[in-house]
Amino acid sequence: MRKNIVAGNWKMNNDLSETEDLLAQLKQHLEETPDAKVIVAPSFTNLYHVFQSLADTPIEVAAQNMHQSENGAFTGEVSGKMLSSVGVKHVILGHSERRAIFNETDALLAEKVDAALKNDLQVIFCCGEELEERKNDNHFEVVKKQLSEGLFHISKENWKDVVIAYEPVWAIGTGETASPEQAQEMHAFIRKTISEKFGSEIAAEISILYGGSVKPANAKEIFAKEDVDGGLIGGASLKAEDFLAIVHSF
Ligand code: PGA
Repeated sequence: MRKNIVAGNWKMNNDLSETEDLLAQLKQHLEETPDAKVIVAPSFTNLYHVFQSLADTPIEVAAQNMHQSENGAFTGEVSGKMLSSVGVKHVILGHSERRAIFNETDALLAEKVDAALKNDLQVIFCCGEELEERKNDNHFEVVKKQLSEGLFHISKENWKDVVIAYEPVWAIGTGETASPEQAQEMHAFIRKTISEKFGSEIAAEISILYGGSVKPANAKEIFAKEDVDGGLIGGASLKAEDFLAIVHSF
């Protein structure tokens, strides 16, 4: 049975004291085990602190990015090996902000995926189309290309360490959400695409998260769709009350 997952992508928010405040609230209210695995993705500077603080809880820690090399002369970068060594279990790769602002290509992402898996990190692989692409009815093709070129080189055995996040770029941080039907349609397409290449068993087991302006008010309806296995939450993950309400939407 594939897992339900709610992951909070804090992006470049929360300094150390804000991180401590948010963690305290999450820990206080997540005592009853929810029906979903909960993951938080703080900035690099707070990863180790967050890992230690959450050690006695079921909440797991993700990084928001990593470099594809193991080590070396790459000033300002952080490797998968370093992430693993401080208790990080997951890494978000291919977020649309990384693709658009930091020019990350599918080919680069393929290298990062390999490096993450090699270092025992689970990959949360993001894909999603821009508004123009949807308007031109190109969205399925765009997502298929992102998956094919960034992810589909992995072996069948590696799929147990992969989660996919479908995040239409036009819905990220805009307050505009894909309708539950639009999310379901794309998630079913992603599952079918995986099934065609890797078989129906793998496709049935893969968790596919929706991301893009998920809020307490819309989470339940989106998560209720058959192929939606949770969410990657940006803005709403910064407020404990909202994030917890989303986690408890299952
Ligand atoms: P949002 O961000 O929830 O603020 O739209 C989602 C994301 O970027 O992962």
